[in-house]
Amino acid sequence: MTRRIIITLVILTMPFILGLSLTYEIIQVDFASFMEEQPSIGYREGPRLLPPEGAVPVTGVEVPPDGSLPENPVPATPDSIARGKVLFDIHCAVCHGKDGKGQGPVAPYFKPPEAEVADLTEERIAKHEDGLIYLTITQGFQGMASLAENLTPQERWDVINYLRTLQSRNP
Ligand code: HEC
Repeated sequence: MTRRIIITLVILTMPFILGLSLTYEIIQVDFASFMEEQPSIGYREGPRLLPPEGAVPVTGVEVPPDGSLPENPVPATPDSIARGKVLFDIHCAVCHGKDGKGQGPVAPYFKPPEAEVADLTEERIAKHEDGLIYLTITQGFQGMASLAENLTPQERWDVINYLRTLQSRNP
């Protein structure tokens, strides 16, 4: 008698148990994992973090650890400006346009007020010190991602030396 009851129970509960495994998508049991409770900062979000104290990247110090603006160590020779133009047209023009006015082919995909590609010839940015533009390239700035992986520090300064020629053409 007991055997019968057990067998009947197993047979009756079997479809229910199998059915449960199929309904997971519908019922969505929320297992407590706490994985979502951790600090995570998207690469385009602030705050800009400086490297840990004393850390030196293998490529040399890229950003002064005390938070000061780096000085431009690359003289704006015709060679540097020529290198900068090639690099600017590859790495910046897609968004900022070849003339730097922010009309590159990718620019329409940025929707204000979230982000809008900056006109690099505008007075506010023309007045930025070289070091500030260097930090923008190195660390990114709001809607603009970091391009540190695309350009070595020397290449970033070449780009800045070239960018100055675009700006002075459009005072
Ligand atoms: C994928 C698109 C994209 C590329 C590529 C890009 N930028 Fe930007 N840039 C932006 C956007 C968007 C902003 C506006 C950021 C904001 O204000 O939210 C911006 C802003 C800037 C600013 C102004 C920052 C400020 O202080 O307001 C500078 C300077 C700049 N970019 C320089 C460069 C240089 C130099 C390059 C190439 C090495 C480059 N950008 C490549 C999208 C891009």
